[in-house]
Order: sequence, then structure tokens, then C-alpha cells
Amino acid sequence: MRAGPSAQLRLPLPLVARQNECANHDHQEMKESKLSDTGYDWQQIFATRASRICASEIRELLKILDQPGMISFAGGIPDPALFPVDAISAAYERLFRDPVRSRQALQYSISEGYLPLRENVARYMATLGVTCHADNILITNGSQQGLDFIGKIFISPKDSVLVAAPTYLGALQAFNAYESSYATLDMSDLRADKYRQDGARAGGRLKFAYIVSDFANPSGQTLTRQSRESLLKLTDELDIPLVEDAAYSELRYDGERVPAIQAIETAGRPIDQCRTIYCGTFSKTYAPSLRIGWVCASRPLISKLVLVKQGSDLINSTINQIVMNELLQAGMQERVNVICPVYRQRRDRMLQMLKAKMPPGVSWTTPEGGMFIWVTLPKELDGAQLLQTALREARVAFVPGSSFYANEKVRNTMRLSFSLATDAEIDDGVTRLANIIEAASSKGN
Ligand SMILES: Cc1ncc(COP(=O)(O)O)c(C=O)c1O
Repeated sequence: MRAGPSAQLRLPLPLVARQNECANHDHQEMKESKLSDTGYDWQQIFATRASRICASEIRELLKILDQPGMISFAGGIPDPALFPVDAISAAYERLFRDPVRSRQALQYSISEGYLPLRENVARYMATLGVTCHADNILITNGSQQGLDFIGKIFISPKDSVLVAAPTYLGALQAFNAYESSYATLDMSDLRADKYRQDGARAGGRLKFAYIVSDFANPSGQTLTRQSRESLLKLTDELDIPLVEDAAYSELRYDGERVPAIQAIETAGRPIDQCRTIYCGTFSKTYAPSLRIGWVCASRPLISKLVLVKQGSDLINSTINQIVMNELLQAGMQERVNVICPVYRQRRDRMLQMLKAKMPPGVSWTTPEGGMFIWVTLPKELDGAQLLQTALREARVAFVPGSSFYANEKVRNTMRLSFSLATDAEIDDGVTRLANIIEAASSKGN
């Protein structure tokens, strides 16, 4: 039986405090407590960059979401009911029936990734309009590893990365580890001089721009073709790489597909002369635990990334790459046909409920795909404080928007994910959330 919304709930950690701790990007000034009062003081021996590696509110939140009665719009993860379990199991079975192939599958393989899979990914990229070769592809342990490697090869301490506000928290976590600063991308002002100055403010160089081009995490927004072209022009002027994170690009529920930034660029010059670095993943379309992502970029960059991969984890699991390659034979469209109708219906339901229940002063994005709706609360409300109340009194979870800003935080925001919620949870959860917001508005949070 579900516990009532007002039941006592112990929060696992001071979410608001943690967020503030990580908000200060100047590690010299950061006052961190000892990890242990009795044991070894790890803090004093950490490298300076360790102080930039902070707890993710999302991951911490996920720990309490299985409590009874909790409705979660927090984690942006795929619905496991949609995983191609039978196809995955059949692919493993076929492999293990063949003693030669199964031994090969359990062996080390090359760091670039399993060649037939890279060839298949290159064919997939061609369907997006990117003409490339298997040598332009590096298979990574999810696209998150691609982001980490990109941070590793480009960012020196004091360098800056140009990011949207808000942007994907996992990208900030990956780049933070290399002591990055940030310049904030404002699509309504793309003067190169402004970003050159912003990027040099921390004392280093502006190294690359990072953008989630389709149905962004967290905003749900998609860049128009014109914005993509403008961004390419800006990075040309600044002479920096442009990292295109396409994690959600296949999850389109309506509207026309906008060409990938890399496809726009490769229409004008060959891939080996391109500045766009495309990060793809099968996590959202197939299954995240296969951990298969890829980077598609010019050959000289891929060669460097292969060396980074060797020093990091040598290879992706050979067996998972072989299985992923088999799954791909049926074509991406087959997966899209299965998953998109389900997520579309959930998105529509959440949008309907927001419209029906939210008090005046609350607004939200209408994403054409992906997993997220970005909500803006009345100015006086703070998403992080609201979360504490929502967890305790309404048993509804979401992610406070302030987690997603590299620089100045906009606190009256929150991210809602519809990817995992049932109809009843969406109805109930949005109603409870609306009530909490209304109550908080009337007493000024
Ligand atoms: C925008 C974005 N990029 C990259 C990732 C990383 O995904 P994976 O490493 O599973 O490919 C995520 C995961 O949520 C994401 O939201």
C-alpha cells in the first residue's frame, strides 16, 4: 500500500547545501569538510581537481526514489519495459552457441572499437547526412566517456568551455574534473568577440563549445537549422571545436527532423576537415547498460582519442559491441517505432496535466521529443527548496533547475522527466506538485 503524501520522510543528504558547495568553481576558496573524523584525511592529499568533482544531485536523488508512495519525475532514464530484452538475449545465445566466436567475444579487442560495429555506426551516420568512414568512429563506454575524453584532451586548468544555460549536468561534471571554467552561450548574441573575452576571463583559452542539439537535457529544446548554422559560424570565427551531443536525437515525437550540426558542416567540407565532434549513444534507444556510445570526428582527433581510450580502459566490452552490432542489423527505425509512441503519449499527458493543474505564473517548454520538460516557477520560488517540501509533503521528486547551470544559476526552475511515469503517476504527481507550488507561492516559498 502507498503511504500518504504527508508521511515522514528522511532525506538522505542536504541537497541544497551540497548544491551550494559545488556552485563555487574556485577550488582555492572552497571549504570542504574532512571525509572522516576518525580515519585517514583523504581531503589533504587529493589533487586540486578533486575539489571540482562534486556529488550529482540526480544520482543522489535516485537513491531515495524507491520509497513507498514516491512519484519520481527526477531521473531521465529510459523505461526498462522498452528494452529489447528478447533480441539481446537471442544475440548472446547465438554467440555462445559458436565456440570460436564466443572466445573472440570474451577476448580483448582493439581500442578503436569492434570494426563491424564501427562500420555500422558509420552507415548510421550516413543516414543522418554525415559521410564518414569507420576510421572516423571511436566506440566509447557510453557517450559520457566521450565527453570525459574530450575534456581530457582539450581542457587545461583555467581554460573555458562555451556551454548553454542550462546545460547537461553530466557534461559539466566531466569537464569540471579538468578544472574548466565556463562561458555562457546566449543564442541571441553570437558575437565572437564577446565569447573570446568571456572565454579568456579565467586566464586561459576558450577551448570548445558544447551543445545538446535535440530535445536537450534539461531544457527539452531543439536548435533550429538556422541556430545550428549560426553556431557553426561562431565556432569557425572563434576557431574552436563544436561538440554536438546527440543523446536524444532519435526520440522525436513530432515536427520535422533538423539536420545534425555535423551533417550541416560535412555538406560543405569533408569530415576530416570538420570541427564538429559528434557524440552518439545507443543508451536511450537500446539499453544503457550495454554502454555503447561513439564519437564521430575527423581522423586526427579520433587517433588522439584512441590513445586516451588506451590509457583509460583499453577497450569497450567486446561481447557487448558484438551484440550491439547484431541488434543494429534490424535498423534504428525499428527501435524508434517501438519507443517513440510510448514516450510521446507520456509527454502529451504531462503537458496536458501541467496545463490543467499548474497555477498562474508557472510556464514550461513543449519539447518535440526526448525525456524532459523544463518548468519555470514564479520568480520568488527556489526549485531546490521546493524539492525539499515536495519530497517531504507530497512525495514527488524532480530535479531543481539550478543544478544545470555552469555559471549564474536561475533558481526558479525545475526539470521534469516523463520517460518512466505511468498515466496515474503523471496525473497524481503533477497534481501534488501543482498544489505544493500554489501553497509555496502564496507564502513566498
Ligand atoms: C545529454 C546527455 N548526454 C550524454 C548522456 C550520457 O549517456 P550515455 O553515457 O549512457 O551514452 C546523457 C545521459 O543521461 C545525457 O542526458
